[in-house]
Parts: sequence; C-alpha cells; structure tokens
Amino acid sequence: MCGIVGYVGPLDAVQVILDGLKRMEYRGYDSAGIAVEVDGTITVAKRAGKLGRLSEQLEREPLPASHHGIGHTRWATHGGPTDTNAHPHVSEDGRVALVHNGIIENFAALRAALEERGVHFVSQTDTEAAAQLLAIELAETDDLTTAMQRLAKQLDGAFTLVAIDAHNPGEVVAARRDSPLVVGVGEGENFLASDVGAFIDHTREAIALGQNQVVTITRDSVRVTDYDGAPVEASHYHIDWSAEAAEKSGYDWFMRKEIFEQPRAVADTLLGRFDTAGRLTLDEVRISEDELRAINKIVVVACGTAYYAGMVAKYAIEHWTRTPVEVELASEFRYRDPVIDSRTLCVTISQSGETMDTLQAIRYASAQGAKIIAICNTNGATIPRESDAVIYTHAGPEIGVASTKAFLSQVVAAYLLGLYLAQVRGTMFGEEIKTVVDELAATPDKIQQVLDQANRVYELASEMVNVEDFIFLGRHVGVPVALEGALKLKEIAYLHAEGFAAGELKHGPIAIIDSTTPVFVVVPPRGRDHLHDKVISNIQEVRARGAQTVVLAERGDELAATFADWLIELPSVPTLLQPLVATVPLQLFACELATLLGRDVDQPRNLAKSVTVE
Ligand code: M6R
Repeated sequence: MCGIVGYVGPLDAVQVILDGLKRMEYRGYDSAGIAVEVDGTITVAKRAGKLGRLSEQLEREPLPASHHGIGHTRWATHGGPTDTNAHPHVSEDGRVALVHNGIIENFAALRAALEERGVHFVSQTDTEAAAQLLAIELAETDDLTTAMQRLAKQLDGAFTLVAIDAHNPGEVVAARRDSPLVVGVGEGENFLASDVGAFIDHTREAIALGQNQVVTITRDSVRVTDYDGAPVEASHYHIDWSAEAAEKSGYDWFMRKEIFEQPRAVADTLLGRFDTAGRLTLDEVRISEDELRAINKIVVVACGTAYYAGMVAKYAIEHWTRTPVEVELASEFRYRDPVIDSRTLCVTISQSGETMDTLQAIRYASAQGAKIIAICNTNGATIPRESDAVIYTHAGPEIGVASTKAFLSQVVAAYLLGLYLAQVRGTMFGEEIKTVVDELAATPDKIQQVLDQANRVYELASEMVNVEDFIFLGRHVGVPVALEGALKLKEIAYLHAEGFAAGELKHGPIAIIDSTTPVFVVVPPRGRDHLHDKVISNIQEVRARGAQTVVLAERGDELAATFADWLIELPSVPTLLQPLVATVPLQLFACELATLLGRDVDQPRNLAKSVTVE
C-alpha cells in the first residue's frame, strides 16, 4: 500500500520521481504528491486522484528544477483521499517534507502531545504527526539522519518514512519498520523506493533494507544504520528483471499481458530445480533434511489469491507426502491460538512478500518454533528474508492488481515443495516424482492452448455484460479454482460473484440460483470417475433450476458438453494439475468483462497491489 520514491542525482528530480511513481501506482492510487528542495525552501505539489491529475497540475504549474526530492502515491488509511491528506506532509515550520507508507499506531497520542505544545495540524493523517515530530527532532539535532533515528524510535506500528530537509540539500533519509523499502544504487545517483520497479530504468543494483534501519542517500553515498546510529552492513543484490517486463508491451492492461505471460511464468518457475543427480532442489533452504523428516504437520498461511493457491496445494501435498496440511487465512491465523510447535512446517505464499497479514502470521508461527518456507515472487522482500527457506516463483513483475501469473506460479512452486518433501521423506519413488515433474513441464504448452481460445471467452463476456450475479462451482482442486474465478470478477468488474464447492450447493446456496444467474462449473478430468460424475450431477441440479451453465471441461468430454450452454474446452491434464489450465479462462473472462464494463482493470477501486497494513 502506498508507493514511495526518493531521488538524489544529476537528473531532473521531478521527472525521475514521476516516472518512478508511475511504476509504483499499482500500490495505491487515491492521491499523489512530490516535494523538492531548492535554495533552502521545500516546495510541494500534491493532488487527490490518480497520478495523471498530479502530472496535469505539474504541467500547468511546474515545481522548481531540483536534483533531489521525494514522491508518494497513496492508498488512504487515516484520512480520506483529499488534496490536503495527500503526501508529502510538510512540518509547520516548513523545514521537512515527509512521505509515509504504513500505519503509525500511536499517532493519536503523538498528535495530542504535539498539539499541546502548540503545533497546528492541517490534515487528518497519521503521517503528519511524524512530519511534525521529525521537525522538532531536527531543530534539536540539525541532522536529518539523527532526527530520523530519534523519530523512528518513538513510533509504534509499521512504516516506511522518507524525508528531505530544507537545510540539508542533496540528502534524502528514510526509516523502515515492517514496510518495504529498497535502495537503488546508481553511479552518481541513488534512489529509494517501495519496489525496484521505480528505478529499474536507471540501475539494476539494489540494497534490501532490514528491519529497524535508517538509510541516508546522497549522490555518491548510501549509509545504513540502526535506530541508534550504529552502522549496518547492507545486503546488495542484482535485479534481473528487464525494464520491458514492467511495460504493457502493446496490451491494454497489465493484467491481460500477465495472463498471456503464464506459459513463460510457469516454465521459469520450473527451471533449474534439479541437481546433477536428478534430485529436486529449492532456492534457499536453511532447514535440514532431518528437520523436514521430523515435521508432523504443514500449515499454509496466505491471503487472497495466494490463499487459494495454498488450497490447491493442500490436495497435492497431502497426497504426495501423507502429511496433514492446514490452509489458513493469514489474517485469521494468529487469533485462533493455532496448535504449532517445532514439528510444524509453516508454508507461506505471497507474490509481493510484503503482505502484512502474512508477515505477522509467519512471525507468530516462527515464535512458536515452526520452521518457515516462503513461496514468493519478489527477491529481497521481507517475507522471504524472515523465512528459513525460500522458493522463488520467477513469474517476473506482476503489476495488475488482480493476481494472475503469480497464482499459477505459486501453485507450481507449492507442487515442487510437495515433491521435494516427498523426496526427503521418502513417500514417493524417484520415478513417481519424475512423472509429475514431466507433467508439470508439459503445462506451459497446455496453458498456451487455453490462451489460444481467448476470443471464445471474450465472446462469452460480451454476452454477459448485463449479468449482475455469477456462481462458480468446482470439486476437489476445482473448489479453489471456483473461488479464484469469483474473486477475479469481484475485484476488477465489481460484480457479485461467489464460488462454492459443488457438493455444498444443495446445502443452501442453490436457493439463489435462477435463470438470471450463470453458473460456471469446473468439471474434473475423466479418469477419476466418481469425482467427474458427481460434478456432472451438480450441473444437472443447477440446470433444473433454470441456470445457464458455462462448463469448463476436458476436450472430448462428451457428457459434460451435453449439459453446457457454453463449453470451454480444456486440454487433458491430470486432476491435480487442472487448476493450471482451468483458472486461465476465468481470468480472461473477468478481464474482458471488466473492460467491457469500462472498469479500470489494473487499478480497481478501493484496492492496492501490496497490502502492507493489517
Ligand atoms: O502479495 P500477496 O500475494 O501476499 O497478496 C495477497 C493478496 O492480497 C492478493 O493475492 C490479492 O488477493 C489479489 N489482488 C487478488 O487478485
């Protein structure tokens, strides 16, 4: 939530920051602002609404030319999305400008204390309290870095703060706790941002900041300390994303582009997973094989689409490892007093690696003695850094708020983990593992076959522009697919959509079905006939209530075709791999329907890509 950019260097700071914010806009788009310092004076431009409104304002009234500054694109928490509440916030004495991502939990107490001292506030934000307090610390220390260290120690909650000081030109200072911040290390220029995408056009060298650290950048230096001012060794890494990966490449939406990138995302996630002896390996494992053999339970924690990937994984991991798997919403996990100990393996799934609910869940699990394995798409993010082992999904940057390629690659990575555990624990023979891996390796081509039918799905969407309620049904791994199909429609088309286990329908939800409610049904492949035939019966139940059916079934499944008002054919895959092909038409359908309804597909209302508040 919220995108932050800071810059010091030879270029036009406003342009660099605007370009960076454009790349950060997926993180929040309620308002945006920039602050620069020139000749001892800070000037701010900020505006409610999307970044485009700020750009228009800057064309009419440009900010003074400067070579350092800060910018922000906001997802509102405290105070509505107004011009005044937009960041940067400037202290009453005009000396500091500050941007913030996160929530300062003790802001009310801080604000009350500051008001008692006579400080006047202009906004309803928690951030302004930090800006005012920073100015007070600065007045005492006259050093922005020291003032930031002292400020950070007084704040409760999660935050990234980035500030400039009118009296210290050429310096941008940031503090971090539980919110993302990366440093882009250039030549004669340096950057701060919530995500590397903001500076990928300028440098591929980065530093991931740790918890409770303060960083000071100038043109030629990057200095990292803890909150007490003690120097900290920074961990450098190279970004291997291409700049083009963060562009739309001719597609109308990032989401559509990312849907079409799925064959590559899955193939890349499978790459390089074997050692020379043909044994599966993971990216980073700091858990011994003995510890993995000793685990007696796996708990998957994640949110939203990543949670559905976990639901899919449960079926496979239990089947392959004969180890019980629980899948839990990260936001609920630590509030139910879960039974966890050192024999629990906690698997966390997160595209961004910064989701606060998920981060808090793994911290809780870790404190109870569990080992943590992260499945993550973002190198250097907080969740993988705080985990004992990591499997990166290699899907490349996902910019559309609606998660698509991340989901498929999360399922693949979770399957690799299941197979790895089966290998270590000896619950599958090597050749059985090899068979599944070969089947996985064949899925990119099969996903491509589904994408090749996109026009048929688009036709279906155009038939359904006036529909207001949708139902999605599945069984077994089809249940999370149904839930994911419904989530996609809700979040980008703003339509009422629900996903159910097909067998649950008769226990209540069937009452909402009538001729106005299309029902999408994911039919399992033939072969496990008890599963397949049960779903065919469920289709008949909804047809008997007048519903139109959109049936997603294996090519050649004549029986399923008989009961379809619309048939979407899927390539043949084993049951456990069906989510990798069945989810794709549902993503295409939501993307197209939302487009036809005139929605902003990449930046749907009320949402942000990376949810860094609880
Ligand atoms: O970055 P994460 O994978 O941890 O994000 C989790 C959810 O916020 C995310 O999947 C969300 O549900 C998507 N917008 C769904 O499309």
